[in-house]
Amino acid sequence: MVRHFLRDDDITPAEQQRILDLAIAMKADPYGLKPLAGPQSVALIFDKTSTRTRVSFSVGVADLGGNPLIIQSGESQLGAKESIADTARVLDRMVSAIVWRTFAQSNVEEMAEHSRVPVINSLTDDFHPCQLLADLLTVHERLGRLAGLTVAFVGDGSSNMANSYLVACAMAGMNVRLATPTKYQPLSSALSSAREFATKSQSEVMVTENVRDAMTGADVVVTDTWISMGQESEKEARVADFSGYTVTSDLMELADPAAIFLHCLPAYRGYEVDADVIDGPHSAVWDEAENRLHAQKALMHFLLTSA
Ligand code: CP
Ligand code: NVA
Repeated sequence: MVRHFLRDDDITPAEQQRILDLAIAMKADPYGLKPLAGPQSVALIFDKTSTRTRVSFSVGVADLGGNPLIIQSGESQLGAKESIADTARVLDRMVSAIVWRTFAQSNVEEMAEHSRVPVINSLTDDFHPCQLLADLLTVHERLGRLAGLTVAFVGDGSSNMANSYLVACAMAGMNVRLATPTKYQPLSSALSSAREFATKSQSEVMVTENVRDAMTGADVVVTDTWISMGQESEKEARVADFSGYTVTSDLMELADPAAIFLHCLPAYRGYEVDADVIDGPHSAVWDEAENRLHAQKALMHFLLTSA
């Protein structure tokens, strides 16, 4: 049966581990596996802007022996003129996978329902699961393990990144702490999924308003923009709401001395993170960005060979 990757828990914890192990191997030997030899094409559809996702998927598909086909949805029939279902029925005749960055999670769900090839969520309003594979790969590289470590996500708890952090880290057996204002809560389905995984692995899931509680002793400190794509009109209100949630070097002092700082990027220095943190000694953000490539190649290999 065709496998899709629409949210972090569309794979099992064991499969997550397998994909990360494969990513480590593929990073060491980038051109050894060619599941897209032909070349077979992969559709990369963008309803939102992107630098890392566009480049890492394009390069990754080429590295796997395939042909990346970038579709800016505004220049296609998808959306106003043609339904998601009909688009899936056409694309799956010609491409080996569909990667879609869009708004509603229901969009990728509908594409997957009608596609006979794997559909990959490359960011929706609700989840950014490809980013989490890269982030977990980075944590493993820097700190040597995942299970038992504590991650503190500081900022917009209702964002795609916060939801994905909760689920993916709990799956990896990590303790996850989310520091966010009460009005910016994660999706209940993400929180309940994270709690189920945490119960099985005896790890902790904490949601708090208190940044200091979340950051004290953390091994990994993460933040993301306070204004996600599509929320630009809320900028003024959000900047006011997230006052006090900037990751500063003073707050980093609360974390473990060997803690790493992650940010999916793009970053807004002076808002969610200060420059001396993201450009400082704890930061692993450039490795994190590069790891999008390796993690997604491993993901595509897994999905293409599991079907
Ligand atoms: N982190 C991330 O997804 O970056 P882009 O928006 O540049 O793709
Ligand atoms: N939360 C951010 C992530 C960007 C990669 C957004 O959705 O804009």
